[in-house]
Formats: sequence, structure tokens, C-alpha cells
Amino acid sequence: MARTALVTGGTRGIGLAISKRLKADGFKVAAGYAGNEEAAQSCAKELGIVIVKGNVGNFDDCVRAVKEVEDQLGPIDVLVNNAGITRDSMLHKMTPQQWNDVIYVNLASIFNMSRQVIEGMRERSYGRIINISSINGQKGQMGQTNYSAAKAGVIGFTKALAQESAAKGITVNAVAPGYIDTEMMSAVPQNVLDKIVAGIPVGRLGRAEEIAACVAFLAREDAAFITGATVTANGGQYFAG
Ligand code: CAA
Repeated sequence: MARTALVTGGTRGIGLAISKRLKADGFKVAAGYAGNEEAAQSCAKELGIVIVKGNVGNFDDCVRAVKEVEDQLGPIDVLVNNAGITRDSMLHKMTPQQWNDVIYVNLASIFNMSRQVIEGMRERSYGRIINISSINGQKGQMGQTNYSAAKAGVIGFTKALAQESAAKGITVNAVAPGYIDTEMMSAVPQNVLDKIVAGIPVGRLGRAEEIAACVAFLAREDAAFITGATVTANGGQYFAG
């Protein structure tokens, strides 16, 4: 029987590519979204998948959203914690709001969502949790103390939960994308973007589909021996130790 996957932030950008890829791989897919109704409706129509609205930074929203998905598709076997935002600013100009928004949406969300599915996965002795981190959680990035802290936190969470879950047939892994050609990049000033691309040995931004391929691999049943890992996909921009 087809397994069920839930992708947070699954209606746009990297998340949309992940939803598409998992659907093509035979999963029943649900995609979470925060507020962009137009993108969500067109994703639901194009892919024929379930969409569910909520703020991943809010625990109660996650309780409700996961219940909605499970009522429609059954228990969640694969959770992809992909939803993320940037609020770039040098620390000396950063507001508490910019800090808190990024910590809640990019890091608290990993707890809020994983907490909803972990008990069921343990009971059924099967699960895949895949957390989207970032090159900037691995190497740090000027203008991103908030984002780098959150994305580094995602890797620590991944390693800890992997240890808790290994004996229960549940793998927990992270994917750390480099700079990918999505809407998120439009917030980066052009002169900065040019510098960034010049520093990528592959010579271009990554494609969302290339990250989706990493996620799809980790979501497979036969990826069972890989857990606590961080799969790095950044065009050679940074080699994490
Ligand atoms: N790489 C190289 N140089 C950078 C840089 C970067 N990522 N970010 C900023 N700089 C440089 C600028 O080019 C500029 O250099 P010069 O003075 O030599 O021209 C200097 O830092 C100061 O930058 P600004 O003039 O833009 O200063 P600001 O205070 O107006 O803004 C900033 C600072 C908020 C950091 C802004 O430059 C910015 O948004 N930078 C991009 C930060 C970034 O890389 N964000 C990643 C977004 S994508 C993402 O997060 C997804 C992911 O997971 C990879």
C-alpha cells in the first residue's frame, strides 16, 4: 500500500519540488502552506494532492494540520520538515521580531511537527523524518545569525532524534542545500547574488529538483541504514566536516 508523506512548505519552491517528486515516486502526499492561497490551490490542482494550512511555528496549528492530513490520508510515514523563511539583517540592525520569526518557523517547527508524528511512527515501527537544513547552518553566513542558528539547530535535533529512534525503524536525516534557484533568492541583492554564484564551483545555483532527489532517496524504505546524516548538496561551495 502507498505510504503517506507530509511536506511542510510543500506548495512552493524546494517544497513544491519535493511534493512533486514524492507523488511521482508513489506516495500519497500532503503539502502544508502558511498563507499563499494562490500557490496552494494551483499546487493542489496540478498535483492532485492534499493541502493543509497552518503556521509551523505554532504548536496548536501543527496538532490540527497533522490531524487533518491523517483523517484524509491515514498515518504519516514520511515527514519532510521543509518550511522556512529568511529575515536577513546584520546583527547590529536585527530586530527581536526578525530573530523570533526565523527561530520559530525554521527551528521550533521541527519540534512542533515531529512531535505530532513520532508516537505513531514508534507504534508502527516505521518512519522517515527528513529535515531541511542549509549550507548556512553549516558554515554560517553574514546577515543570517538568526537563520544560521536555526539551521545549525536543525542538524543537532536530527542527530539526537536519530539516536532516540534508530531501534524503532525510524530514520531521521537532514538535507543541507546550498543556494537554490527559488523565490527565497529574490530577497538577496543582485550584487550579492553575483558574488555568491561566483563562489559555487559548479558555476550555477542549484535546482529545487536536485534537492527533491536527495529527499526522495532518504524517504525510501531501503535507505534504512542511513540515519543522523546530513546530506550536503551545494555545488561544491562548502565541504562540511
Ligand atoms: N556573500 C558575499 N558577500 C556578501 C554576502 C554574501 N552572502 N552578503 C553580503 N555581502 C557583502 C555585500 O556584497 C557588501 O559588500 P561590499 O560592501 O563590498 O559591496 C557587504 O557585504 C555589505 O552588504 P550590503 O551593502 O548589502 O549591506 P546591508 O546592511 O544593506 O545588508 C545583508 C546586509 C542583509 C547581509 C545583505 O547584503 C543580504 O541580504 N545579503 C545576503 C545574505 C545571504 O546570503 N542570505 C542568504 C539568502 S538564501 C538562503 O538563506 C537560502 C539558503 O539556505 C542558502
